[in-house]
Amino acid sequence: MKRVIFVCLGNICRSPAAEGFFIDYIKKSGKEDSYIVDSAGTCDHHIGELPDSRMRKHSQKRGVELMSKARQFVSEDFQNFDLVIVMDDSNLKNVKKLANNSGDESKVFKLTDFSKTMNFQEVPDPYYGGDDGFELVLDLIVDSLENIDKKLNAAN
Ligand code: 4NP
Repeated sequence: MKRVIFVCLGNICRSPAAEGFFIDYIKKSGKEDSYIVDSAGTCDHHIGELPDSRMRKHSQKRGVELMSKARQFVSEDFQNFDLVIVMDDSNLKNVKKLANNSGDESKVFKLTDFSKTMNFQEVPDPYYGGDDGFELVLDLIVDSLENIDKKLNAAN
């Protein structure tokens, strides 16, 4: 089984979109049965909520329905996932604080580490911005899917 979890701050904008688009990507190649895909937030403010309506709207325009419910990332997630993919440097710091050992730390990457064509260091938080921010998040996610899949397959 290949196991990946995407992590942002609130788990209502960036990481549920990454989860939804990655699931869509592996479904299109007919191999979803050998993957476990999840998402979580580093904060607890939005636990139980559906993704932000703006992110759902932008995702739906690209044919992807986001239905996950927000939860908080916990230290035990390191046991359950092979790859922990965060959106920005603040997420990176907060997730690494929950690592139990150096093996856990070595599972953590930024989504932009997997970009194919776009040259960004982080996936910018779209929450307080406009439509362009949400579209940029989705562009960055889509640009990374193939290399994330390659990384998971190389690890397992
Ligand atoms: P996310 O976006 O980390 O991509 O889910 C945010 C969601 C909520 C807040 C900030 C960012 N907030 O401040 O409530």
